[in-house]
Amino acid sequence: MRIYISNSKSESENTFNSHNLDGLTMQREQWGSRFGFIMAAAGSAVGLGNVWKFPYLAGSEGGSAFLIIYIAFMATIGIGLMMAEIAIGRSSQLNPVGAFRKLGGAAWSWAGGLGVLTAIIILSYYSVIGGWTIAYFVDTITGATFGGSAESLGSQFGALVSDTTRPLIYDIIFLGLTLAVVIAGVSAGIEKAVKVLMPLLFLMLIVLVARSVTLDGASAGIDFLMKPKWAEVDMGTVSAALGQAFFSLSLGMGALITYGSYLDKKTNIRSSAAWVCFLDTFVAVLAGFLVLPAVFAFGFDPSAGPGLTFITLPAVFSDMWGGQLFQAFFFFMLFVAAITSSISLVSIPVSYFTEQFRMSRVGATLTVGVIVFLLSIPCSLSLGIWSGHTLFGYGVLDLLSNTVDWYLLPIGGVAVSVLVGWVAYDKIAAELTNQGELPFPMLIVWKWIMRVVAPVAIAWVLIGPLWERLAAAA
Ligand code: PFF
Repeated sequence: MRIYISNSKSESENTFNSHNLDGLTMQREQWGSRFGFIMAAAGSAVGLGNVWKFPYLAGSEGGSAFLIIYIAFMATIGIGLMMAEIAIGRSSQLNPVGAFRKLGGAAWSWAGGLGVLTAIIILSYYSVIGGWTIAYFVDTITGATFGGSAESLGSQFGALVSDTTRPLIYDIIFLGLTLAVVIAGVSAGIEKAVKVLMPLLFLMLIVLVARSVTLDGASAGIDFLMKPKWAEVDMGTVSAALGQAFFSLSLGMGALITYGSYLDKKTNIRSSAAWVCFLDTFVAVLAGFLVLPAVFAFGFDPSAGPGLTFITLPAVFSDMWGGQLFQAFFFFMLFVAAITSSISLVSIPVSYFTEQFRMSRVGATLTVGVIVFLLSIPCSLSLGIWSGHTLFGYGVLDLLSNTVDWYLLPIGGVAVSVLVGWVAYDKIAAELTNQGELPFPMLIVWKWIMRVVAPVAIAWVLIGPLWERLAAAA
């Protein structure tokens, strides 16, 4: 269902649909239902970060000690910032650049611009990895990446990612599917897709977890995940937990500002944000229960790092009854998680281009697609023929990914918290209570999390490890 509402903004603040002027009131698309919005936001949050990154972080950073720190961040700064971003979007009814400018004045536009830039940068490597999920799904069905030892699967993975053309072909397929959904529109494209894909993802995940935890020897993996190993916790663990919370919740680059801008005025932002945070954490924990028990049951190393998903798991599936089917399921699920996130990433620059530059939705989406694809070429090649070219010791893909995690997302997070805590507090507080209609007894807590706790904690994560990183890069 496509619903349009009238939008009361001054011409200078919003040029949306101006290419479409027909003498009628300017209009903005909306989500068809609260469920649709929650699925879209959860789709953005639940992604490669949950399934691919969370289990190996938990595996190498102290088991449930990491989980406890992670949940503590989620329940305070994470949910607080998510509410803030959604409220910024809904209050301004604009893309991130317009939203920051409207709420904070022209001097704040840079923060929205940084968000648009960050989204494009994330997409350039996220789409490459999204492409791998399709490649693995296809290769599992044909049997090419099914069966064999961890060593042979490891060299197959190496062969795929270091190939010059194959990953880029899958990258184009992944991006093409993402663009097609975005072009179809907010409610007719994105919402329709996520309402099917997200429940499907949850279902597939539960089936896979059930399979993993019932394997002989799985209990060692469950224990590993449940036992806190505080001795392994250091500053790096805390910083990794906050960084992961940011990336996983899609905070700090305007995704939720964009999605919030399509939200109707009646929806309860707080409970919706709580749902999204819960679903995101739930999926990360489930992914831990999917990956680690299986890894233990077959005697692999739980701290194998990024290779856990693409090498260790296929080795596990190879030894498992019904493994080929479960492996195909797994990579399809990973693809769904990735594409619903990449849809939200594309939406950020698309909303900016359509509103600020009066581009059509199709034109803006295709422009984003071309830019992202061009950037993804060096990312992909940095794992193959360009692996010798490094900057500060990193190839292009790692350099971009670290820049996002270490600097761009935290800076975006500080900008959001300062804007809502100090600059536009009254407006955003009113948005969170639906102009006083909904009670919000914790408002004062939220206010001080935004004013002090979030900026200080994020700045600490941003600045704390800086010297070490600079020293390592020098
Ligand atoms: N939250 C996604 C994940 O965990 O994989 C990544 C992401 C998606 C980050 C969308 C930012 C974003 F706007």
